[in-house]
Amino acid sequence: MGNIKITGTGRCLGEKVVSNDDIATIVETSDEWISSRTGIKERCISVDKNTSDLAAEAATKAIKNSGIDVLDLDLIIVATTTPDSFTPSTACLVQAKLGAKNAVAFDISAACSGFIYALNCASKFLDGIKFKKALVVGSEVLSRILDWEDRSTCVLFGDGAGAAVLEYTEENGIMDIYIGSDGSKGKCLSTGEFGIDNPFSVKERCSESKLDMAGKDVFKFAVNIIPYSVNKVLEDNSISLDEIKYIVPHQANYRIVESASKRLKLPMERFYINLDKYGNTSAASIPIALDEMNEKGMLNKGDKIVLVGFGGGLTWGAILLQW
Ligand code: UT7
Repeated sequence: MGNIKITGTGRCLGEKVVSNDDIATIVETSDEWISSRTGIKERCISVDKNTSDLAAEAATKAIKNSGIDVLDLDLIIVATTTPDSFTPSTACLVQAKLGAKNAVAFDISAACSGFIYALNCASKFLDGIKFKKALVVGSEVLSRILDWEDRSTCVLFGDGAGAAVLEYTEENGIMDIYIGSDGSKGKCLSTGEFGIDNPFSVKERCSESKLDMAGKDVFKFAVNIIPYSVNKVLEDNSISLDEIKYIVPHQANYRIVESASKRLKLPMERFYINLDKYGNTSAASIPIALDEMNEKGMLNKGDKIVLVGFGGGLTWGAILLQW
């Protein structure tokens, strides 16, 4: 690797800003509980936009930011847990919305690690010959799969999309990617199974397709896997933490990032955090953060950063890249 670069970023959030106090009118909770346990203050909830709408808006901004022509896109990958429909894929819907008629489009499902998985996949496609430019989007309307009567989960998540344009270049870019999965722990963070429903089905297997989470188990997994994944990409590339300008973690919980900061012995200022405004937007959280950092001018050419994600599956992964 080393010749695939992110050349543009964009984001789009759900239209309605919902505060912790607003949530407290729906379930028995409080701003004090949510803020102190998670760091989340508000989240953006989609009122009218589906996953492909959020994705297409974020993508349009990323394409503009990169300066490429939409017709030059060879590949579109959307990472999502909450697609608009079984078929067509959300990526195909985005392709149609953008008019990116020369691209191949498909989805990836890896929950909150989705953007890391999708970047990995896109970087394998980009060969500088048939595939030169790709669009990678993390997009979610998680509010659709939340149980709005379950205070232990509905307070945590938000809706949004983040997008990145990737180009095959001669310059250094993505240096390494590490990803992992452990399907045996899938129940820690899952939605109900879809039912078997046909004239021949023998038993009812339908359950409520709402998000269910063993919060403490996921917390323990997260505080270990973040430092592990960061160290893995650094050690594999003989790069020290001192050389890394920022870590961009999946935005799930402030206390998880704080713990990772202690374990890595890296001050909190080196972690980018925006979960106070958006909550956990799953596959969208890392590209939304990247776009904010890009917009604020925090990323200069040559800066090394690490993106690190974890989530349902279980899945996890880290990307070492040079801006
Ligand atoms: O993308 C990856 C997705 N997920 C995560 O990263 C989540 C990882 N886990 C976490 O972030 C934390 O485990 C949570 C924020 C989900 C929960 O925090 P916790 O400190 O582990 O709380 P808890 O589950 O131990 O609950 C403590 C208490 C319980 O009451 P009792 O049994 O002590 O009386 C809960 O019923 O807090 C109660 N509780 C709430 N109270 C007010 C749970 N949710 C709420 C709530 N408001 N929203």
